Amino acid sequence: MPNSKLFSLTLLLLAQTVAFAVAADAPRERISLNAGWRFTKGDSPDVGTNLEYASLRPWILPTGNAFSPNAPTIRPDAEPTGAIAYAQPDFNDSQWRLLNLPHDWGIEGPFKQEYPGETGKLPWWGVAWYRQHLDIPAADAGKEIYLDVDGAMSYATVWLNGKLVGGWPYGYASWRVNLTPYLKFGGENVVAIRLDNPMDSSRWYPGGGIYRNVWLVKTAPVCIAHWGTHVTTPAVNETSAIVKIKVAVDNFTGINADIRLKNEIFELKPDGSRGRSVATFAAAVLKIPANQFVTIESQTVVPSPKLWSLEKPQRYVVVTKVEQNGGVVDLYETPFGIRTAEFTVGKGFFLNGKHVMLNGVCNHSDLGALGTVVNICGLERQLEIMREMGVNAIRTSHNPPAPELLDLCDRMGFVVMDEAFDCWLHGKNKNDYHVLYPDWHEPDLRALVRRDRNHPCVILWSSGNEVPDQDKPEGSALAEEHRYIIHSEDNTRPVTAAVNSYPAGFSGFEKHFDVFGWNYKPNNYGEFHATNVDIPIFGSETASALSSRGEYFFPLGTFLPNKYTPEALGNALGNFQVSSYDLIGQNQPDADLMAGEKYPFVAGQFVWTGFDYLGEPTPYRARDYGRGKTPCPADWTNSLNHAGLADPKKVEQELTAIASVKVPSRSSYFGIVDLAGFKKDRFYLYQSYWRPDFPMVHILPHWNWPERVGQVTPVYVYTSGDSAELFLNGKSLGMKNKGLFEYRLHWDDVVYQPGELKVVAYKDGKKWATDEVKTTGAASKLTLMADRNQITADGKDLAFITVTVADMDGLQVPRSKNHIKFEIAGPGEIVATDNGDATSFESFQAPEHNAYNGLALVIVRAQAGQTGTIVLKATSPDLKPAAVKIKTR
Ligand code: GAL
Repeated sequence: MPNSKLFSLTLLLLAQTVAFAVAADAPRERISLNAGWRFTKGDSPDVGTNLEYASLRPWILPTGNAFSPNAPTIRPDAEPTGAIAYAQPDFNDSQWRLLNLPHDWGIEGPFKQEYPGETGKLPWWGVAWYRQHLDIPAADAGKEIYLDVDGAMSYATVWLNGKLVGGWPYGYASWRVNLTPYLKFGGENVVAIRLDNPMDSSRWYPGGGIYRNVWLVKTAPVCIAHWGTHVTTPAVNETSAIVKIKVAVDNFTGINADIRLKNEIFELKPDGSRGRSVATFAAAVLKIPANQFVTIESQTVVPSPKLWSLEKPQRYVVVTKVEQNGGVVDLYETPFGIRTAEFTVGKGFFLNGKHVMLNGVCNHSDLGALGTVVNICGLERQLEIMREMGVNAIRTSHNPPAPELLDLCDRMGFVVMDEAFDCWLHGKNKNDYHVLYPDWHEPDLRALVRRDRNHPCVILWSSGNEVPDQDKPEGSALAEEHRYIIHSEDNTRPVTAAVNSYPAGFSGFEKHFDVFGWNYKPNNYGEFHATNVDIPIFGSETASALSSRGEYFFPLGTFLPNKYTPEALGNALGNFQVSSYDLIGQNQPDADLMAGEKYPFVAGQFVWTGFDYLGEPTPYRARDYGRGKTPCPADWTNSLNHAGLADPKKVEQELTAIASVKVPSRSSYFGIVDLAGFKKDRFYLYQSYWRPDFPMVHILPHWNWPERVGQVTPVYVYTSGDSAELFLNGKSLGMKNKGLFEYRLHWDDVVYQPGELKVVAYKDGKKWATDEVKTTGAASKLTLMADRNQITADGKDLAFITVTVADMDGLQVPRSKNHIKFEIAGPGEIVATDNGDATSFESFQAPEHNAYNGLALVIVRAQAGQTGTIVLKATSPDLKPAAVKIKTR
């Protein structure tokens, strides 16, 4: 038996050696800087004279549009004069609120009727400050130290120890400032960040705050530049792939640096850890002149590559080492994938040579009740729900996404249309991006492409959405400039835009895109294709169908494309919901599915939208409607979102007549899934078409209509089968077959009787799937169901708990709105509650919520470092309570 003391000493030494070896091999550090920020709303008291919002902009403009790998974001001559109290290191911020990032101050509310529905009736605008006290060890002297911000909304200005160090105005951009010149090594430093969200700067809820992750990056002065690698795969087949890498290396020292650069490719395992080495690049010896950077290119071959695909999203990583004086001074990892992606003119989109129909959705970046706070678990849940529907493509409308979304799409196998802007030179709102466009579109485009160009999921760069410039004389030149900028950063992917103008498809504007994205033009694809014989096309935005989960109005009304007559909305104007018979919208989903079938050259579509989002509550979007004097100007033409009102006068009269019933809508109705993540009926319409091999059938509406006994109550059915038979209380109401270009079956003359409605679907004459809805009893109990029963105790991981109001038999009671209270015990906290009701002003943070049509949601977060069992309890008067347990590890 070995001497146990000696044995443990050996182990200790081994451990130390390993730790040392890792440190020596990984001189670059990327440390989360999310914890422990001080926060206050409002401005530094002396800002009135020293720092005015209007005069802030020129301070942070890059010099002459220059954009080196480390962007100079400050004009040295533009530093504000005089002290700004909140930026000073000795300012006493101990009374400010202590919080962890990411943070969105807007989501904390409260909702107010008088706030614009367009941006969610939440207070996201205004000025706020964040301060962080940062100890930088003396041992870091000589390193370059950066603050990397993945996203801050908006007009961020950063001070370090009272000195202005940079900033970035576009709230969706990721950016970096260099802290090194003003850092105190071996002592406390204070970072102060001022944000300023102008009113009227967004068409949806943008959030407010440092809503994405923040990092402290430490490197040697000779290191890989910011986003300084670019991996491409110019030739790929089953037996081998050529992999090219371009690396930019900075030298921040005053003397020339002689370095050796080594690149090696490893497989990545699904969990992100490194697998086996598959190829190396020849080492390069370089001289980088003092205070300059050098870019070098090299290529290698990966034998028998495992291609990145939707079904098997294999990733690789290039590990880049910079060696100087015999030691490793930088080590940098670039995950990537080996795949080919091609848009063709005649046959649509191909991934690895295989045709793929883009079954896509557009999403805004808020995560419902969590606001814009980025959360991997929240994003992953969204993607899982979309995958279940058959989605394979995501459009990041209308701005650069959180980097975590792209990581997830890489890992889970979704392709992405990565979008830059919602407007260019001509805006849609008084203070939107058009204000920044002249000085910032180039740095913003370059930042987006550099950050995202190594993601295999990204297949398209989109320079804009429905930009008013599309129909202006200068539109083509702007589009061409964007294409040039984007291709100068990455010429392996096509540049597109989401165009909604019909003339812009034929005016010459269309020629400035590699692939043309058309919004809401399923009837014009043929014409476009015949005219533009060399431009591939896809539906960059489709449907804009509207519905509220679990709401059905009678009579159904007639669908009029692009028109919302009061009749079409039915009595929706009374409760500000929209019927779920899926007949209301800009286009019906069916029209876009049909276009996909009719025109095989169309690469697919991105439906507006996968999820409901905060803001833009079309058709109740009236900015000012019913709320008296507000900062937004009255604008009737905007009260309904779409231009072509059937009878604007009549609509106006109707709306005026109910003006006393103030419109409460604060989130969208476009989602296929509601704000809380609960599926609407439309989910099954898309699923039935996008997953033809998945046996499913779905009935709507619910079957609780005591007031409709004896009345005609149409029944709609979505199925991946080709026919179905409907039964009411066991009696057949007939068999229906799907005809050509038919995507739903409907029994229009069903006379309501309580009981059981059952459907049996068939495919190729064989029984395929069944579904049923039953008239329920009175609400009598609550049930709780967590999406996961075990989560990680890291202070970030979430469990989403569905709360159902059920009858004695456990059936969801369709129209129940019971008020439910939640209590939590154990190592977790309730971060948000919701119910998906677009008209609810209930706080997302309150540990209580009404159910909406039988459902509510509780989002629970595990506390960091605390393992154990979380118990969530739900109670409601007259209902049997429920509890659910979630383990944290
Ligand atoms: C589109 C626009 C989207 C959204 C949608 C609603 O025209 O691109 O951002 O506003 O309409 O229908």
